[in-house]
Amino acid sequence: MNRTLHVDLGERSYPIHIGAGALNGLDAQNRRCLIVTNDTIAPLYLPRVLEALPDAAVCELPDGESFKTLDTAGRILDQLADGGFHRDSLIIALGGGVIGDIAGFAASVYHRGIDFIQIPTTLLAMVDSSVGGKTGVNHQAGKNLIGAFHQPVQVIADLDLLATLPPREYAAGLAEVVKYAALGDLQLLDWLESRVAELRSRDTDVLTEVVYRCCLAKAKIVAADEREQGQRALLNLGHTFGHAIETASGYGTLLHGEAVAIGMVMAADLSCRLGWASAEEVARLRSLLSALSLPTSPPPIPPDEFIALMQRDKKVLNNRLRLVLLRPLGHAVISADVPLDTLRESLDAAA
Ligand code: NAD
Ligand code: GLY
Repeated sequence: MNRTLHVDLGERSYPIHIGAGALNGLDAQNRRCLIVTNDTIAPLYLPRVLEALPDAAVCELPDGESFKTLDTAGRILDQLADGGFHRDSLIIALGGGVIGDIAGFAASVYHRGIDFIQIPTTLLAMVDSSVGGKTGVNHQAGKNLIGAFHQPVQVIADLDLLATLPPREYAAGLAEVVKYAALGDLQLLDWLESRVAELRSRDTDVLTEVVYRCCLAKAKIVAADEREQGQRALLNLGHTFGHAIETASGYGTLLHGEAVAIGMVMAADLSCRLGWASAEEVARLRSLLSALSLPTSPPPIPPDEFIALMQRDKKVLNNRLRLVLLRPLGHAVISADVPLDTLRESLDAAA
């Protein structure tokens, strides 16, 4: 059964349509459209989108995080400008988080902001990146360093599109699903634990429910804190550890979701050492992630190097490490005063 929910942001509110075949509802209301996609997704799903929008222009980008740059966004902007697209034109982002972020960024600056629709094609994009309006590109000085908050006018999460997603990419999306449960929804955690087989087999009904519940959680957080002045940072559970792991192991070795899975277990272990979460809860989180084919232990990284990498994270404020921790599992908190010795103990144990 298909489901719809709304991100409640006043005049910037928008619906998220979720379910198998949701793409059949795509309607650009006769507006001029530019579909932005990549050379992996185009052969798979562009014909379906063009069926609904036969007059749309297409901007097909090369696949990969390394193309999430200002140059690539410039290609989209050139095509919009050279094609005489207007203020009321529409961008359709057809792809994973990389395409959604670049296309959304181009939409945020063309004519000082035009509408865009997100059609996420990865599980990660369905439960996270397509919702909430963070758009942007990378710079050599930092990931997502250049960007804007620009909400889509609609998100269409068609679960049929996940059938072709490579297994590791699918599992990486499941890490973000577990993240929502760990940070704020123990009932979801129970439910995920009881649906491991269906999750592994990509059961469409179970995935519809999963995407709905994750988007609902994200929509609530975004509605309360659109520009990440406070609680939106809770969505970064596992990310400070994860970014350090991604950097130390070399970008591309681990997928972002895999690093986040390891990072969540590390955040749980640290929470346990602080007396905030129990050893059973750490084991519970680790066991669910493992059952979903995700890694849960970091590659060997010397603790001093790990801490230095964590300190480069953009969530460091006034030189203090701000970590999202569990107090307990199912309730994330932001902490800026974790004793360094306890962090080191936790890293020693993980190494
Ligand atoms: P991705 O967009 O690189 O997609 C992963 C791979 O899967 C790519 O090779 C892609 O071409 C391929 N692919 C996508 N859909 C497919 C399908 N249905 N069938 C077959 N192959 C398919 O990666 P991602 O994990 O979706 O997104 C990661 C990006 O999202 C990062 O750049 C990250 O910074 C960003 N992100 C943004 C936010 C946000 O709030 N804006 C949140 C989280 C992550
Ligand atoms: N992915 C984190 C956020 O959207 O805030």
